[in-house]
Amino acid sequence: MAKITYIEHNGTEHTVDVASGLTVMEGARDNNIPGIEADCGGACACSTCHAYIDADWFRKLPGVEAMEEDMLDFAWNPEPGKSRLTCQIKVTDDLDGLVVRLPEKQI
Ligand code: FES
Repeated sequence: MAKITYIEHNGTEHTVDVASGLTVMEGARDNNIPGIEADCGGACACSTCHAYIDADWFRKLPGVEAMEEDMLDFAWNPEPGKSRLTCQIKVTDDLDGLVVRLPEKQI
């Protein structure tokens, strides 16, 4: 279980508990947090679960796999060193306190 804070582009914050084993995308979806669309359901095939991760947390996360790297090219306004596809981040206890900033829009 990890407490994750999702911050919408307009500044609205949502802090929720997300069970380990889910993805950061599923945590947003299951809590009806706006800003993550996840059109492909988590298959790393749409890039509509794009979000920005603060630098300190970005370094702690497992690395970006090649498939995610490719799909990030299709995300809206990706930023190197910040952008991740949230369906590719598995929640563990170690992610307690994670802050996820949602982009102005998805593609
Ligand atoms: Fe489609 Fe993440 S939900 S790439």
